Amino acid sequence: MTTIRAVRGRVLTFLDDPALVGPKASHRYLADGVVAIRDGRIAAVGSADEVLATLPADTPVDHHPDHLVLPGLIDTHIHYPQSRVIASYGAQLLEWLQKYTFVEEQKLKDPAHAAAVATFFLDELFRNGTTTAVVYCTVHPESVEAFFAESHRRNARMIAGKVMMDRGAPAGLLDTAERGYRESKELLQRWHGIGRQLYAITPRFAITSTEAQLEAAGALVREHSDAWLQTHLSENLAEIALAKELFPWARSYTDIYDRYGLLGPRSLFGHCIHLGEDELARLSATGSVAVFCPTSNLFIGSGLFDMAKLRDAARPVRVSLATDVGGGTSYSMLRTAAEAYKVLQLRRQNLPALDAFYLMTLGNARALGLDDRIGALRPGHEADLVVLDARATPAMAHRMESVRGDLAEELFVLMTLGDDRAVRATYVAGEKVHAA
Ligand code: GUN
Ligand code: ZN
Repeated sequence: MTTIRAVRGRVLTFLDDPALVGPKASHRYLADGVVAIRDGRIAAVGSADEVLATLPADTPVDHHPDHLVLPGLIDTHIHYPQSRVIASYGAQLLEWLQKYTFVEEQKLKDPAHAAAVATFFLDELFRNGTTTAVVYCTVHPESVEAFFAESHRRNARMIAGKVMMDRGAPAGLLDTAERGYRESKELLQRWHGIGRQLYAITPRFAITSTEAQLEAAGALVREHSDAWLQTHLSENLAEIALAKELFPWARSYTDIYDRYGLLGPRSLFGHCIHLGEDELARLSATGSVAVFCPTSNLFIGSGLFDMAKLRDAARPVRVSLATDVGGGTSYSMLRTAAEAYKVLQLRRQNLPALDAFYLMTLGNARALGLDDRIGALRPGHEADLVVLDARATPAMAHRMESVRGDLAEELFVLMTLGDDRAVRATYVAGEKVHAA
């Protein structure tokens, strides 16, 4: 049986990167628009007059006259097992991992605990308007199984994978090169392409993998070229020094991953803060993605992402935006965009609001190569939507009193002052999964 419904409001979707085509040509805005949804996919987008006339008279319509209707937000780097690591005090990366993260992640071996954490996590993403995320599980296959099972049940478009790590952590968090390969392959074959679930091969980072394990990760990448690869790169100075010590033959941190064939257009590298020119050139040449995680980089004291340097037209590196919970301090992509703006301010760079909302939607979808399905409100696309209210709090409503119809200004208020309170509704594959 076909189900048809519609979401009506101030519809905003991106067509292209404002940094490349300018603000005007970058987006489409309908002051009174409708997104028509049939069987979980977008059937039509247009002015309310036009689209409503084409729908059966009894079509249910969710009407949000004052709110913005956008594609669901996309988070390209987040750790679901770290929901009780977030807000852990006083350490930089390597100590933070040992003292907090590796302790908490060991608990995910228990399938019941993993299932409870996955349930909390997906609820929290939807409350924040995030409908797609690229997710680190733990080393335990149980954690991956729990995550995909819950995500599949909710019909959410998620990318996730088992962390591979065979050194540098407590025994309860280690696999071996052989086991990491076998378990990853089994999980990939079990979940990649099942419903909306997709797999990311996930060696944690160079420091927690032996050469044999990175070799095995490279083999997986070659054998499954339609899967993603995620890891961490050049986040913290002590981490970089240790990586160079463990791989003395490498010319740089990036060179370690390069030698094992881990660079490429489906490879996502978290952080990328302290990269040299040779590294940037290789990331650019291979189409690899640098993932900007501003709340994490500030909270763990890692450093300031250099967007302008990464995107230098002479050898541009593809860039995406992410929360990196639990190093990151918020599940909200709005808060994340606000912190990105501040990081770039410290670099004397800009992040216009349109560019930030492009990144959270179409930009991140493009970084994942999923822009044929998500990240924009277009007929045929999957109906993942978020409804945002720029007057959600007294401070926001007060500030909005001085905004007179300027969309970019409204978006800037939303990203600077907004968080989960600004999310009025979230739709996943056409179903309302959160309402406030
Ligand atoms: N590097 C390796 N593992 C992690 C992690 O869990 N969080 C962050 N922020 N960096 C990492
Ligand atoms: Zn991370």
